[in-house]
Amino acid sequence: MSVLVTGAAGFVGSALARRLVAAGEEVIGVDSLTDYYDVALKHANLAAIPAAHFTFVNADLNDADLDELLAGVTVVFHEAGQPGVRKSWGRDFADYVDANVLATQRLLEAARRAPDLRRLVYASSSSVYGDAETYPTREVDLPRPLSPYGVTKLAAEQLCTLYAKNFAVPTVSLRYFTVYGPGQRPDMAFNRFIRAALADAPIELYGTGEQVRDFTYVDDIVEANLRAARSEVEPGSVFNVSGGSSTSINEVLDILAGVAGREFRVNRTAAVAGDVRRTGGAADRIREVLGWRPTVDIESGLRAQWDSLSGAGSLAGKA
Ligand SMILES: NC(=O)c1ccc[n+]([C@@H]2O[C@H](COP(=O)([O-])OP(=O)(O)OC[C@H]3O[C@@H](n4cnc5c(N)ncnc54)[C@H](O)[C@@H]3O)[C@@H](O)[C@H]2O)c1
Repeated sequence: MSVLVTGAAGFVGSALARRLVAAGEEVIGVDSLTDYYDVALKHANLAAIPAAHFTFVNADLNDADLDELLAGVTVVFHEAGQPGVRKSWGRDFADYVDANVLATQRLLEAARRAPDLRRLVYASSSSVYGDAETYPTREVDLPRPLSPYGVTKLAAEQLCTLYAKNFAVPTVSLRYFTVYGPGQRPDMAFNRFIRAALADAPIELYGTGEQVRDFTYVDDIVEANLRAARSEVEPGSVFNVSGGSSTSINEVLDILAGVAGREFRVNRTAAVAGDVRRTGGAADRIREVLGWRPTVDIESGLRAQWDSLSGAGSLAGKA
């Protein structure tokens, strides 16, 4: 018996696979190693997963033999996807439909047939909320994405819920609120800020910096996945996974300046279309049902990310 992590070479998938192997699980990881960002980083992520209990399959979920991949698998952690709001407009939207919607639907069809499967955890996103009507936003509040990326994440989440309702596929969707920490994707804000600061280059800031985000440390995201896999919850359930920080990007820059012990040069450029003004998730439901709560505050988490990127020889630091 084993567990399957899709997107295992990515930021969240690789952190999750490392934790699962450390907990004694036999882990299969699948990833198509897309070139959305430097593939060397993905190879480095894979290399950091202890090999003795980890099998890597380099394949695209849209054409892999999923029945074979799911043979003997009890839990699927579905982290594979095409992230990023900026790229999701225009012609690249097709990549989002392929990686987020079609791949998830194909996986759910295979999950229907998988005899040993008892949980499929889907990596959903706070982007399903768009500019929400109320904060902190609850799972029952109306999702109305503001970006094509958010539309595809919501479509896949709805597929998870309806495969649960119609075919008892044991899905749970976790709506991650901006994940950060060591290993964060190089296109994400904290990673870009820290690398620019370390190189003494100006920091590119999209928009005014007054946009507020609920940031969630990667280890807390991993813990939410483990709890979702272990707990008896109704198939089709949806949970926010939100760190509770409600911090503006300008406040993040102040915290980082404190860590670095100096001010940064900042180039303010136009806001990204599809970027919401604010995210903030109510975590009551996941606390009550899964007993999850965030354990890493924004200052400690930012320091950990700074330290990992400034570490000598860090691949992530060179991206
Ligand atoms: N990082 C965040 O802040 C965040 C927030 C909300 C939701 N999410 C979701 O969490 C998941 C993981 O995000 P991440 O930041 O680790 O992204 P990532 O890009 O680092 O990892 C995703 C991985 O999926 C792989 N992949 C893409 N399409 C595939 C396919 N068709 N078949 C096989 N592999 C494929 C990519 O090669 C990549 O390695 C994504 O689904 C993302 O939408 C992330």
